[in-house]
Amino acid sequence: MFITRYRDMTRMNHWAVALLFICAGLTGLALFHPSMYFFSMFFGGGQWTRILHPFFGLLMVLGFVFLFFAVVRDNFWTKTDTAWVKKAPELLKGNEHAMPPVHKYNAGQKAVFWIFAVSLVLLLITGFMFWQPWFADFFPIPLRRFAMLVHAASALALVLSVIMHVYAAIWVKGSFRAMTRGTVHEDWAKSHHPLWYKEVAEDAKRNKR
Ligand code: HEM
Repeated sequence: MFITRYRDMTRMNHWAVALLFICAGLTGLALFHPSMYFFSMFFGGGQWTRILHPFFGLLMVLGFVFLFFAVVRDNFWTKTDTAWVKKAPELLKGNEHAMPPVHKYNAGQKAVFWIFAVSLVLLLITGFMFWQPWFADFFPIPLRRFAMLVHAASALALVLSVIMHVYAAIWVKGSFRAMTRGTVHEDWAKSHHPLWYKEVAEDAKRNKR
């Protein structure tokens, strides 16, 4: 039997953010280094890439704000998460049964979620600081240069954490459908997120009564 993990709105929100991440990422890489300039051909050339990049970024952050509030409740750090991190080498060896029981998200997922949030805030703030011709003139040149450095470092953190996020979605079989169909198999929930499964099962029983 399958159980619901995400509402339709959350899934549409997620995929909009993912699409905007790809657009902001590719336009950003095209501007970052000449070796990746060829990405600009997907966006109408250099001028358009330069114009579109900040708007893709803004829309991605806006989309993430909604996603953030939809899932933040289940991403707060608890003592069990610290215990989970200490045991993480066991998980890498394939001994998932040795891990402390997990609620809706494990500590790795929570850490990635918070890296997303922090890196997006930094990208947003620093992006405004050198966005020509509208906002850059409000900031002295050395500060703009520092902002560029923080912007690039935050983008790197975001890209690496998205790679981990996608890898985990593929690695843990049965996860992908959570974001495509909105449901997961009962057995998937029991083995990877037992505390969440218990809560969902109890809710279902209560609603039947
Ligand atoms: C581009 C390819 C992407 C794929 C294939 C993907 C896949 C998934 C999957 C399968 C889940 C469900 C995991 C679960 O419920 O256990 C999920 C959740 C989530 N994804 Fe993505 N994702 C992608 C990109 C992104 C991006 C770019 C962001 C944000 C910057 C993002 C943010 C989230 C968030 C916030 C959740 C909720 C779970 C959590 O808080 O950890 N995803 N994703």
